[in-house]
Parts: sequence; C-alpha cells; structure tokens
Amino acid sequence: MDGTTNTFVLGTGSCLPKRVLTNAELEGMVDTSDEWIATRTGIKTRRISGPGEETSHLAAGAARQALHMAGLTAGDIDIILLGTVSSEMSMPSCACLVQKELGAVNAFAFDLNAACSGFLYALDMADAYLKRDPALKIMVIGAETLSSRVNWQDRDTCVLFGDGAGACLVTGSSNGSGMIASKMFSDGRLFDLLCMDSALGMNPELSNYQNQGSFIRMIGRDVFRYAVRAMVSAVEHVLTQSGLTVDDVTLIIPHQANIRIVKSMIERLNVPAEKIYVNIDKYGNTSAASIPLALDEANREGRLQRGDLLLCCAFGSGFTWGATILRW
Ligand code: ACO
Repeated sequence: MDGTTNTFVLGTGSCLPKRVLTNAELEGMVDTSDEWIATRTGIKTRRISGPGEETSHLAAGAARQALHMAGLTAGDIDIILLGTVSSEMSMPSCACLVQKELGAVNAFAFDLNAACSGFLYALDMADAYLKRDPALKIMVIGAETLSSRVNWQDRDTCVLFGDGAGACLVTGSSNGSGMIASKMFSDGRLFDLLCMDSALGMNPELSNYQNQGSFIRMIGRDVFRYAVRAMVSAVEHVLTQSGLTVDDVTLIIPHQANIRIVKSMIERLNVPAEKIYVNIDKYGNTSAASIPLALDEANREGRLQRGDLLLCCAFGSGFTWGATILRW
C-alpha cells in the first residue's frame, strides 16, 4: 500500500474461430499422424479462421467480452494495444480496425510485434502508460490468424499453430494488487531460427535469396532449447525482482507452444504440474493470443481469486521473451 500504481485487470475476454481442425484431418493433408503430433507437441485440435473471422474480428470479439466483464463500454477505452504478427492488413494497424469495429472513438490504437511474446510486451507497455496516468483504461489484446501464415504443405510447422484472440482491460491500482513485477528480453542475433519473410520480393532491388515466401520457418529443435532456458530464466528474474518464490505463486500461465516445453519448465522450476495452466491440446500455438486466451479461460473457470499471484511467461520469434507477476 505504498501508493505505487500497478496494472490491474478489470476484465478478460477471448474469441475463437468456429472451425475445429483435428490431427486426424491433418493426416489427410501432410505426411503426419495423430500419434506424432500428440506425443511431440500435446496438440489434439486447433481452431482455423473462416470468412468474418480475420484477426481484427477475433480481437474485437475478445475485447467486447473483457469490456462486458468490466462493466464498461467501448467509449471508456483510452488506448488499444494489440500484439500480433498476422493482421489482415499491413496498414492500418489491426488495433485501428478493432477500434473501428468496437466504436472506441476516444482511444488511440496501435499494434506491437513481439511475435508470441506480443501480449506480455503490450501488458508491460500498458504498465508504463498507467504509471503516467493511473486512470487510463487500456485494452491489451493478443490476436492471431497464423493459419494464414503457415505453409500447409510443410508438416514441420502446419501442425503446430492455431487462430484465436484474448484480451484484458486494465487500469491503474494503488492498493497493492495488479502487476508487481515484469521484465522483457530480446535477442535479434537469433532471428533466423524462427521467422517469416515479408513482401520484400515485390521490389527486385530489395528481395534477397533468403526470401522464401511469407510463411513461418523454424528450426524446431533449437527453438525448443532456447524457449525452455529463456522462460525459466525470465521466471526466476521476476521472482527475484518481487522477493517471492515459486511456492508463493498460485497459477502459472506459460506461452502454449509445446507441452514438452511446459514439462521441461515444470522440472527445472520444481513446481507441481497443477499450478501450470495448459490448453495447448485444444488450440495449438496461437502465438500472441496464447497467454490472454488461457488467462480468460482460467479466470472464467474460477482458477484465480482476489489476492492470488499469477505468473505469465512467454517466448517467441526475435527471439523475444519475458515474464510478469500480477496480484489478482
Ligand atoms: N509429422 C510427422 N513427422 C514429423 C512432423 C510431423 N508433423 N514434423 C517433423 N517430423 C519429423 C521430422 O522430419 C524428423 O524426421 P527425421 O528424424 O526422419 O529427420 C522427426 O520428425 C523429428 O523431427 P524433430 O524436429 O527432431 O522433432 P522434435 O522432437 O524436435 O519436434 C517440434 C519438433 C514439435 C517442432 C519441436 O522441436 C518443437 O516444438 N519445437 C519448438 C517449436 C515452438 O515451440 N515454436 C514456437 C515457439 S515461438 C512461437 O510460439 C512462434
């Protein structure tokens, strides 16, 4: 109760495409099997967008739910921060499309690209705005349609990803609840272990031999190794920063990339599996949407009570990674 302003969650929401794509269906599309996908990744189904379910529509759907939970309206939003790498347009930002769809006429809006860490980066940025003005209402969203960015002939990647959106409406709190620690990291030297080309090929002067089309490319084994190490170290960093131990934490929501990454983290952090929220079996890797989607599910399932400590950690292309602790 020292008067410090912390980022406090007023409401959560999520939105998923209707279409469920099963591992069995993927068996008919590429040389793979339900058994390989389930044992190597933990994924059983994922959602795939259809018409009217572009990234901005999923994002707006999640934001509406968060507003509803908070008992506020679109006109109350001051800022829309949206983490995504798969907007339906390069310009304007997906956040501006969401603003239009919501009718959030009093907000300013922009996207943020930190790949799978996009939501935590956006939450961290919201915290900085709230330190300047605690009264702001900020809609923090992670939304993706990675189905539009994977090569559906590449079994190494197409089985891993899914579409969806999650949102948190946040404001400032000075009663000790809210975000109590947060730390983000990047290492651009490793960019080519997990990447996606842009449309550089439209200008022959700028296109280069590396441009292989706007698809996700990944050296899975290396990404796996870095992801475990980086998320564990980010978690340890924020625990130290806040003077807490992992035993104090009620629930951990890691980025949902691969169940084996999560299991490796559980071992290294020495936490009981029940403390870790997992829904990768249903949705696959939804990149920036994965943490807010899981957070909304956990919240609606009653897994978080006032005063509980929530720890989120992410890892993505860049590489980018980070961790955040919130007192619920
Ligand atoms: N079905 C069947 N076989 C496959 C498939 C598939 N879908 N994909 C790859 N294989 C084969 C490979 O060709 C290889 O065959 P080979 O031994 O004959 O060469 C074999 O399976 C093993 O391949 P590995 O890549 O070594 O398999 P691994 O156990 O590492 O699992 C995976 C691959 C699932 C991609 C894993 O490395 C992983 O999850 N890495 C992290 C990926 C990740 O999390 N990315 C995203 C993080 S950041 C973000 O969210 C964007």
